[in-house]
Amino acid sequence: MGILAIQDLSKHFGGLTAVNGLNLTVDEGEIRGLIGPNGAGKTTIFNLISGFYRPSGGTILYRGENIGGMKTSRIAERGVIRTFQHTTLFQELTVLENVLVGRHLQAESGFFSSLFGSDRPNAEAAEERGLEILAFMGLADRSDETASNLPHGLQKALGLAIALAADPKLLLLDEPFAGMNSEETRHMMTLIRRVRDAGITMLLVEHDMQAVMGLCDRITVVNFGEMLAEGTPAEIRADARVIEAYLGTA
Ligand SMILES: Nc1ncnc2c1ncn2[C@@H]1O[C@H](COP(=O)(O)OP(=O)(O)OP(=O)(O)O)[C@@H](O)[C@H]1O
Ligand SMILES: [Mg+2]
Repeated sequence: MGILAIQDLSKHFGGLTAVNGLNLTVDEGEIRGLIGPNGAGKTTIFNLISGFYRPSGGTILYRGENIGGMKTSRIAERGVIRTFQHTTLFQELTVLENVLVGRHLQAESGFFSSLFGSDRPNAEAAEERGLEILAFMGLADRSDETASNLPHGLQKALGLAIALAADPKLLLLDEPFAGMNSEETRHMMTLIRRVRDAGITMLLVEHDMQAVMGLCDRITVVNFGEMLAEGTPAEIRADARVIEAYLGTA
């Protein structure tokens, strides 16, 4: 039935329907793309899954439990973690401090407790685990640097590291490639594959079609808050409705 099963999900803002009767099932272990034109409702869907918005209708089943309308902290505790479309780093803190704060902001036990089989409760252990996450994201040699000094690509990598510190099982990535040059894009693709290889399921909202087509197992296309098409990257690339609504203009 999928790690995530969204059924008949709707969200209205006054007279505006941002999400309209959406059905979406994500299988455990996959990277699912979620694409569509500006204003199609992608970020709103993330806000609904992560509890920032309450659904107007429908259900959001995570491992069979309806998390729709739950508090963000309770959803995060279950391992559903999101990143933000506009990077939200603590600019004056160091890279390591950002990861340590990220752990406290979202869930109790860290991502690396699952990889390294321990849950040492003291500050020293938390720092060690933070450094492990930074190493995993290729940021180990930057741990003492002030976040604002990092180049754009590494700031985005740090955003991903902060999310990993909250021990995600299902990670919602909102435009992790935004503003990247091609070298930064290739690097981020490597990092996301590494996250997948660690067993984390991902839902990826992104306008960079090279990244989406290269990373995703399947892609769901939304338009005006409704599902327009779903399929493999090859199927989506060749879909006349998708080309007309989105790809032809992207
Ligand atoms: N809090 C809100 N209040 C009112 N309208 C909103 C709110 N959040 C989103 N919307 C509207 O809902 C629609 C969907 O917006 P959303 O941000 O989900 O689009 P998106 O697919 O993420 O677009 P983009 O690709 O540009 O990020 C838009 O018309 C937007 O203006
Ligand atoms: Mg958006």
